Amino acid sequence: MTLADIPATPGHPPAAVDAPRLAAADDLTVWPLSTLRLAHGELAVGGVPLTEIADRFGTPAYLLDEADVRERCRTYLHAFPDTDVLYAAKAFLCRAMAHWVEEEGLGLDVCSAGELELAVTTGFPAARIVLHGNAKSPEDLRTALRLGVGRIVIDSASEIARLAAAVPPGSRQKVLVRVVPGIAAGGHSKIQTGTDDQKFGLSITDGSAQHAIARILDQPGLELVGLHCHLGSQITSDKPFLCAVRRLVGLMARIKDHHGLTLPELDLGGGHGIAYRPGEDALDITTLARKVRAELTESCAAAGLAVPRLIVEPGRAIAGPAGVALYRVLSVKRTGDRTFVAVDGGMSDNPRPALYGVRYLPRLIGRRSTAAPAPVTVVGRHCEAGDVLAADIQLPADTRPGDLLAVPVVGAYHLSMASGYNLVGRPPVVAVADGHARLLVRRESLEDFRSRDVGL
Ligand SMILES: Cc1ncc(COP(=O)(O)O)c(C=O)c1O
Repeated sequence: MTLADIPATPGHPPAAVDAPRLAAADDLTVWPLSTLRLAHGELAVGGVPLTEIADRFGTPAYLLDEADVRERCRTYLHAFPDTDVLYAAKAFLCRAMAHWVEEEGLGLDVCSAGELELAVTTGFPAARIVLHGNAKSPEDLRTALRLGVGRIVIDSASEIARLAAAVPPGSRQKVLVRVVPGIAAGGHSKIQTGTDDQKFGLSITDGSAQHAIARILDQPGLELVGLHCHLGSQITSDKPFLCAVRRLVGLMARIKDHHGLTLPELDLGGGHGIAYRPGEDALDITTLARKVRAELTESCAAAGLAVPRLIVEPGRAIAGPAGVALYRVLSVKRTGDRTFVAVDGGMSDNPRPALYGVRYLPRLIGRRSTAAPAPVTVVGRHCEAGDVLAADIQLPADTRPGDLLAVPVVGAYHLSMASGYNLVGRPPVVAVADGHARLLVRRESLEDFRSRDVGL
């Protein structure tokens, strides 16, 4: 059955052609840089037709445009000279990703022993890695010290003594302190981390940050090299970053006054917003970099401080636009006043719509349809009514089981947040570059589930 076969319910006439929304669906501005239109409604990314990827690797499948990732790394390095640009591995990490980022000259931000081990065993220099985490486990800290990470970001008072006790006698670990500057920014309340009343960092307002700094300076095994903050994610204005620079420089000046110490590093975290649909706001990296540099220079001059080395930690803005998900339509159903197009993946490979209400724009690929667009909601296959991938979008009215849908801008916080719900198995990740597709991460199989489950 296709959408066109479904009788309209009273009060809900068949969809009229909605030209602006169809145009948005056909707009490729949020797709990877290499995306090309081919004949018969086909698209190619990295020189590889998407239907070829679906045929070869099955669905659902995630692909990453290698050249797109590399280009975004270069854009950052170009926009932010004299800055350490660290890719935030939580957005998405696999060996290839670590390798590309390393080759492009970025550092890495990790937040677990798992991410750290994967990166270092891929050959990523530990000295270019920063370890984060609001609650680092003993294993996280042990692994960081064993592998020699460049910096550990202290996130709580209790971590100071734990870390100091774990540093081998005679050596010193470089640390930053994550401070909460009291700035509300970010695309959703669940990804705002710059204000008090959330779990990350140490507040400047209530003095916890200042107290922690004094304690760190008392530890011979710890070398405080700077301040860190991460305001949140999906921030589309540069103003919060400029405000953060002023507040952190203010704190640096007070540290100099009280402790006679000029901190050499200032880490502004990530959070640079991207467009998920055509026409949405995105942060302009070049403008951000220019304004941050000017603000830093001015604020330091006003405070009589040497300008610290700047660090930024973009995740989403590097990986997000490079990813495309491919799904096969399994069913088309009208119920009540809505039409549901159900695909063979869902919230286990992309939890973001359910977590933050993110809105995607899937499109039909692999065949050209001349049918009028019809309003539909694309849902996943999981046993959860909230398993919605894209609510109230337009797809051609003849969309039917067996069709392929492609979703752009899925390179960040999708598979990295994937779950084992319903034992569906996590999809593979395929790299595309120069007309070739290669498997980076294989599909999770029934055998994987069986082998982990060792009890009776
Ligand atoms: C400490 C830190 N740095 C960087 C990032 C990356 O943020 P984004 O992917 O929004 O750039 C995050 C995301 O949560 C973070 O917690």
